[in-house]
Amino acid sequence: MAAEGPVRVPFVRPALPAAEEIQPHLEAICRSGRLTKGPYLERLEAAAAAHLGVRHAIGVSSCTTGLMLVYQALAELKVTGCRAAAKVDCATATVLSGGDGAGGEVVMPSFTFLAAPAAVVWNGLRPVFVDVDPASTNARPEAVAAAITPRTVAISACHNFGNPCDVAGLRQVATKHGLPLVIDAAHGFGALQAERPLGGGATAQVFSLSPTKLLVAGEGGIVATDCDCLATLIRVGREYGNDGSYNAQFSGCNGRMPEMCAATAWLGLGRLEEVAAHRRMVAAAYTAALDGIAGIGFVAVGPGDVSSHKDFSITIDPDRFGATRDDLRRALAGRGIETRTYYDPPCHRQVAFRRFHDGRADLPVTDSLSARSLSLPIGPHVDAAVIGEVCGMIAACQRRD
Ligand SMILES: Cc1ncc(COP(=O)(O)O)c(C=O)c1O
Repeated sequence: MAAEGPVRVPFVRPALPAAEEIQPHLEAICRSGRLTKGPYLERLEAAAAAHLGVRHAIGVSSCTTGLMLVYQALAELKVTGCRAAAKVDCATATVLSGGDGAGGEVVMPSFTFLAAPAAVVWNGLRPVFVDVDPASTNARPEAVAAAITPRTVAISACHNFGNPCDVAGLRQVATKHGLPLVIDAAHGFGALQAERPLGGGATAQVFSLSPTKLLVAGEGGIVATDCDCLATLIRVGREYGNDGSYNAQFSGCNGRMPEMCAATAWLGLGRLEEVAAHRRMVAAAYTAALDGIAGIGFVAVGPGDVSSHKDFSITIDPDRFGATRDDLRRALAGRGIETRTYYDPPCHRQVAFRRFHDGRADLPVTDSLSARSLSLPIGPHVDAAVIGEVCGMIAACQRRD
């Protein structure tokens, strides 16, 4: 839905390092003539692995490409076997039977971004959509477990809006059934679980570095994994499947991250905490200002978890608020305040994916969240004045009859 008039408060602005800070590095890249596969990618990968606390952080062209490469690499592991048998993730990963078009199933939430099922379908696999927890908006381990059948080849989940999903609970289900756990961690930089950054505890967690995220490359992604074999295959996969022999080992793609993007993200990593602290401040201020307004709900962050607040998403209960989410969105747009309706429609109702859901049970929580969620402006441009204006408008929209 377009804003009804000029946008005064954009939904998001990229959290970039200062131009003067980036410039010398861009000049160095231009002088070197090395635009890809260079030292900045190496620096970013080393710094990201250290920050996330994982053995491998592999820079790729986007989170979507990273997810595609992970499923492909898991299918390849079935062929090649995993040499790091001591690692439970490696050993269980070998069960993925995708890549042969046989249509193994990946159990995943529908209330998520469309890139996650797209990566599954690209690999000849079938998404099986499950409902989410209404409070956290994330996948529930019990719902995921209930959807597992002999055809299941993987489990996928997402940290919606930067709110950490139950990685330990999902991992327990995955381990019990001998399945790989692939997490869409697109919103994950800046979030904490048990006082540590997200990234570990799954077969792979895949981050996005696109402009709306806390860590920005321009376009880019990071695949985090502790599995050496998976990491090797992803590195080969992002190089068309060429392991250096010029004899493709499997049909990969160009999934590389350019040096200019890697340099931008590498610099950004140094100020990630500052960016995350600002998002936390904005989220706390929005929450305090909107808390007393009837009909407004908030995303529940688990005990011990810290959301990155990639998005600040609220829900509108039309009966209690006196207006629908779409009424409110239109009113804000009328004042030049841009918002987003993540994730509407949910994946299981989208043209590309609804055939996979035909005949399956309704997902009432997903449908309700999709119809009621509204993400408010967030990012470095959101200050006390913007928060005051947005919340004042929301309060004014409520009908107190
Ligand atoms: C939850 C989620 N997953 C995946 C993606 C895809 O990320 P990318 O644009 O880096 O491919 C996005 C993009 O915003 C996202 O929000």
